[in-house]
Amino acid sequence: MNPTEAPARAASPDANRLHVRQLSHAFQTADGVSTTIFDRLDFAVREGEIVSIVGRSGAGKSTLFNLVSGLLTPQSGHIAIGARTDGSPGRIAYMLQKDLMMPWRTVLQNALLGVELYRKVRPDDVTRARDMLARYGLASVADAYPHSLSGGMRQRVALTRTLLVEPTLVLLDEPFSALDYETRLALEDDIIALREQTGTSVVLVTHDIEEAIAMSDRVILLGGRPARVQDEIDITLSTHGPRTAVSAREAPEFRAYHARVWNGLRSGATVQSDSRTPQGAAHE
Ligand SMILES: Nc1ncnc2c1ncn2[C@@H]1O[C@H](COP(=O)(O)OP(=O)(O)OP(=O)(O)O)[C@@H](O)[C@H]1O
Ligand SMILES: [Mg+2]
Repeated sequence: MNPTEAPARAASPDANRLHVRQLSHAFQTADGVSTTIFDRLDFAVREGEIVSIVGRSGAGKSTLFNLVSGLLTPQSGHIAIGARTDGSPGRIAYMLQKDLMMPWRTVLQNALLGVELYRKVRPDDVTRARDMLARYGLASVADAYPHSLSGGMRQRVALTRTLLVEPTLVLLDEPFSALDYETRLALEDDIIALREQTGTSVVLVTHDIEEAIAMSDRVILLGGRPARVQDEIDITLSTHGPRTAVSAREAPEFRAYHARVWNGLRSGATVQSDSRTPQGAAHE
């Protein structure tokens, strides 16, 4: 399902939207060998914060999202989802790395699926869905079936589905990977605006270092096996005017942050066998 409606894993005792404590998880291979992906991992995401998680392929980023969303059950540790300011439970929306459209449902019906998972769809949900699809350039295909869509269009439908559930915490696993540069920047702006307008917290997994820096308040570099927080970088950018996808990239601090993340990824490579190269190496 996408987005995945996670059960409130535990009421958060603190102000964080997400608090992961001492999280441990291992996978068993068919021949019985156990690989520990996380061993007592700790991190937290505050209200209205945008955090990017970067790490080489196979580092455990999607596994972390699967654990946080409840798709996987951790072997041990605590995952606490913070309540809304009015005390009602928080809600996670998870946009999976694969967009998972249901081919027998129209684009509009796919967009409404997340809402449907937790309550009856109301007429204003349909209006919100149509408005959001229109904003993402999908008005003309709202009543079409997903097979007629490009990869980028499918990602935008998946994003619509994720945001329509009015989550307190959004997990986005490489959400913009199939998009052209211009659309990618527009959607980055939409996520930044979403945080400003609703205080929604966002955790973003991306291989694009520029995207991670431009969008985030904090970048977490995940590396090693078991994966640990190899570096944690608070991002402060002196932008001309409000922070946008473009103004962030033009900030004077951008290059230095880029070099720190890139060097961190490279040094992490010594403990990973995978050779996938992070995008955006041009800034090195
Ligand atoms: N269901 C599973 N069973 C066994 N091993 C798994 C399973 N899911 C993931 N793994 C292993 O766990 C490790 C982390 O995988 P994961 O998909 O979380 O990496 P990732 O950081 O998201 O990589 P990518 O950037 O390529 O998406 C990999 O070595 C992967 O092979
Ligand atoms: Mg992944």
